[in-house]
Amino acid sequence: MSPSRPAVLIARAVFPEVVEHLRQHFEVETTPPDVFWSATELAERLQGKSGVMTTGGERVDRTLLAACPQLKIAANIAVGYNNFDLPAMTAAGVLGTNTPDVLTETTADFGFALLMATARRVTESEHFLRAGKWKEWSLDLFAGAEVHGRTLGILGMGRIGQAIARRGALGFGMPVIYHNRSRLDPSKEAACGARYVSRDELFAQADHLVLVLPYTPQAHHTVGAAEIARMKPTATLVNIARGGIVDEDALVAALRERRIAAAGLDVFEGEPQVNPALLTVPNVVLTPHIASATLPTRTAMAMLAADNLIAYLTEGRALTPLNPQVMTR
Ligand code: DGY
Repeated sequence: MSPSRPAVLIARAVFPEVVEHLRQHFEVETTPPDVFWSATELAERLQGKSGVMTTGGERVDRTLLAACPQLKIAANIAVGYNNFDLPAMTAAGVLGTNTPDVLTETTADFGFALLMATARRVTESEHFLRAGKWKEWSLDLFAGAEVHGRTLGILGMGRIGQAIARRGALGFGMPVIYHNRSRLDPSKEAACGARYVSRDELFAQADHLVLVLPYTPQAHHTVGAAEIARMKPTATLVNIARGGIVDEDALVAALRERRIAAAGLDVFEGEPQVNPALLTVPNVVLTPHIASATLPTRTAMAMLAADNLIAYLTEGRALTPLNPQVMTR
């Protein structure tokens, strides 16, 4: 190993071209076959490493930082970074980066696909067909909720929220309402055809509500029994943000009692474990955190994470820093 080249760790298996790209600059330790390391194993592997490429599954917290004093950067292959304790990283002088923009349209496509599947009962009807239960066609067989022309609600109006809004407004003629910590400026609202409403109005008026807000401790169970109770009994709820945003027990109760029509979930509070109660309700579409999962997009995400490692460890800059104040120290 050349002592002049920094060493980096790729915590989960990534595409070969990404490993090759990093090998142009670093000594690279990777993990074929793909394994998920415990926090202790991760800390052991990080000894002597200046950088790490993480996914949402690896926590970079006080304990890890204390055990890895050589670490300078953690590059997340995700736009969400709730696996990072950013204040602790900043205090330890460790840069965090994420992967915005490259996944926006792909993730919005999936958000809309999940909305459609949920409203039109796609997976529920497929299970019925596969189980050999389809004996005859009938007029109301798996009659679902209308999508076009119905009100699309979006909670969290960042880049992905705006891309979903465009799909609804421009593609499906949906009136779009949204709520966000801060209101968009009028030109952005016009570009995605969205109208700002209060949180209560959003829950009460949406026919299809999509959650796209970042997960923070304050956002924990931001959709619970009280919020679901405000929704229309015909409404659907889609979560492509993070599992902890929805109180899953409250959601299961509401789905069972048909207090809302259906839900679509790509993210779960204890993932990859899924609340077993969710598996027992038919009116929920469940997918394994795949909203950004197309090969071009996942490759672009991993490449951006690699470029952040390279830019920071070779030139002291980064493309998408989360705590840029670390770079000026
Ligand atoms: C993201 O980018 O945050 C996706 O949820 C993948 O983790």
